[in-house]
Amino acid sequence: MKILITGGAGFLGQRLAHALLKNVQKQPLTELVLADIAPLRDAALVADRRVRSVTGDLAQQLTDGLLHGVDGVFHLAAAVSGECEADIDVGLRTNLDSTRVLLDTCRTLSKPPRLVFSSSLAVFGGTMPTVIADYTLPQPQNSYGTQKFICEQLIADYTRKGYIDGRNVRLPTVTVRPGKPNKAASGFMSGIIREPLAGADAICPVDPATGVWITSPRFAVAGLIAAYQTSQEQWGSRTAMNLPGLSVRVAEIIEALRRSAGATVAARVRVEIDETISNIVGGWPWRFDTARARALGLSGPLTMDDLVAEYVADYPAAVST
Ligand SMILES: NC(=O)c1ccc[n+]([C@@H]2O[C@H](COP(=O)([O-])OP(=O)(O)OC[C@H]3O[C@@H](n4cnc5c(N)ncnc54)[C@H](O)[C@@H]3O)[C@@H](O)[C@H]2O)c1
Repeated sequence: MKILITGGAGFLGQRLAHALLKNVQKQPLTELVLADIAPLRDAALVADRRVRSVTGDLAQQLTDGLLHGVDGVFHLAAAVSGECEADIDVGLRTNLDSTRVLLDTCRTLSKPPRLVFSSSLAVFGGTMPTVIADYTLPQPQNSYGTQKFICEQLIADYTRKGYIDGRNVRLPTVTVRPGKPNKAASGFMSGIIREPLAGADAICPVDPATGVWITSPRFAVAGLIAAYQTSQEQWGSRTAMNLPGLSVRVAEIIEALRRSAGATVAARVRVEIDETISNIVGGWPWRFDTARARALGLSGPLTMDDLVAEYVADYPAAVST
């Protein structure tokens, strides 16, 4: 089986690649193509003979035969929320135009590939019920969420037409993201754990009473893989499925850090409100009913402590305290 991960050199792309290479899926993986505009730096992935890394813009790669012989696609390549809000053209080009090229290239294949799309809780906003269900109508309030929602709809329609076998998965904010901060409006949720644990200060740009919906990298990857493996009958609706996560207030994230690493480390988090980030993140829902995912056996982290412990266990070299 040959699988393509777009955005394969990104945070979740690399985590997903490692999981797929363990052959968790039913059919053995013969080739894993990791396509990204950024070079692949993970030494273990680079060294794996089943991995082919392709570097360049996705739309261009697609016209150069990227999908040749592919059975399945995880479409993760994207510009993140902060970038899309700062420059609408970047978001439209990366998130919408590239997805359209991907879907239309899928139409040319002899067999419709299975395609998992990483959508986001950012499709929701505006006037919402207190608890978001799988069938709550999204009303995105920022460009990133709008682009994700349009892609969900296109993927549902291409699936209805039989051009692809699409699976739209809405991820909560995935925390803790290792490495350097990125331009996602939600990036601080990782930063306020990651930086203090590495001995550095971190800014919390929102009111700590703000509610957020988060999951861990392990659960996010498990959700993407389950979406790929589930039969069409089990998957059911072509509309997107919300992945399980934790509903917490930002103050509870800082409290979990305090319990894990002590008061001195937690004191490295400083609250400095950023209006733009507060408006984006504060407009997202944080309570979800994920009945559909749970019916497939999916779950999320049970507590904030689990989430911090997962980061410490997975990235010990990044923890200096
Ligand atoms: N991490 C989260 O909290 C989260 C939450 C909800 C949804 N998602 C979605 O999950 C996916 C993966 O997220 P991530 O955290 O790994 O993001 P990431 O930024 O680490 O990875 C995305 C990758 O896409 C690549 N990319 C961007 N433009 C490209 C282009 N034109 N051509 C080829 N590659 C391009 C980037 O270089 C990057 O490596 C994204 O679609 C994101 O929107 C992530």
